[in-house]
Amino acid sequence: MGKRLRVLEEWVLPLSKERIEELTSQFGTPLLILLRERVVRNYRAFQRFLPGVEVFYAVKANPHPSVVGLLASLGASFDVASQQEIALVTSFGVAPERMIFANTIKRREGILYARRVGVSLMTYDNEEELKKIQRYYPEAKLVLRLKTPSNGSRIDLSYKFGAEPEEALELLLRAQDMGLVPVGLSFHVGSPCHNPKTYATALHIVEDVLLKARARGLFLTLIDIGGGFPLHTYSNEGGPASLEIVSEVVYPLLEPFLSRGFRVIAEPGRSIVGNAGILVTRVIGKAVRSGKIWYYLDDGLYGTFSAIPFDKARFSFYALRESDQEVLCTLAGPTCDSLDVVAEDVVLPPLEVDDLVVVPDIGAYSWASATTFNGFDKPQVVMV
Ligand SMILES: Cc1ncc(COP(=O)(O)O)c(C=O)c1O
Repeated sequence: MGKRLRVLEEWVLPLSKERIEELTSQFGTPLLILLRERVVRNYRAFQRFLPGVEVFYAVKANPHPSVVGLLASLGASFDVASQQEIALVTSFGVAPERMIFANTIKRREGILYARRVGVSLMTYDNEEELKKIQRYYPEAKLVLRLKTPSNGSRIDLSYKFGAEPEEALELLLRAQDMGLVPVGLSFHVGSPCHNPKTYATALHIVEDVLLKARARGLFLTLIDIGGGFPLHTYSNEGGPASLEIVSEVVYPLLEPFLSRGFRVIAEPGRSIVGNAGILVTRVIGKAVRSGKIWYYLDDGLYGTFSAIPFDKARFSFYALRESDQEVLCTLAGPTCDSLDVVAEDVVLPPLEVDDLVVVPDIGAYSWASATTFNGFDKPQVVMV
């Protein structure tokens, strides 16, 4: 194995085989291991590569209390999407000013709860939402979410959300006419976004709307650049893009706003927790079907691998068993649903029932969307 490859392997699987076995015998499987040091490193990378930009961790990516508690202790702020996420973050003593209710379509109960606990910063993208906010939280500070292109992104987050740039001015003035308080603009370039120019395009749209608003006497002071940052924060981590590279394009466009006194915030989720999560799942059965080897795992599409249907994610699989041989196999989940197939044509050593399979880079949008379908518990989570 070449030196560079070994460095990458160690980056991908930083825990020894013995440590993984020790943790699984203590906590059982499936087990999502969260690496504290990576969460800290990723959070600090934002401060390093985007200085002055406030980090609002998108709780939806991984709402495990160990992640929220750790980030709260580091001084992070939070992007929350529901009453439940507000309550979770509040339980760690985070002040309401350190949260943004970044869901443009909120339940009435959510708005009322935000008002009760004082989470006043919130997004909107349509007039019906303004009516709800006027009724239930008229003093809220409003951020208009814009629809922007998602070039280079796996998930388009301007399909379901975002006002057309052409209707932005009208929606801002409408808020003002209704006695509400518009303070800024937001966008999301899609997730993960591997084309830094997509942020540049979005920022040009923002700039144009800001100018038009200013010409009508409306001075906005906040820009929310959303999430979409890649899985890797540093360029030497082996991914196709990194926060470091994205920042080279994006930061020069943000600096003029920062120096003019704008508040600039980001809502990263994946890039904080994605590469901090390692799943350990166990082979619970094996079969040969139509001449192909099938290994059945104790985690599947209804569990941590829910990232596959929901986040369109693809993963790498490593077996702890060492062998000179390799087989082509199908990996399936434990439920009775035949849709529950995790991956096909995977190359692994020949495995036995009870062997462990390790999956790196699975910290975001995975455990968060796991269900208890068929009665299987959500995977255990441990932060080390
Ligand atoms: C409003 C909002 N902000 C932030 C995020 C986090 O995005 P990412 O995980 O790509 O950083 C999302 C993801 O869905 C989102 O919807």
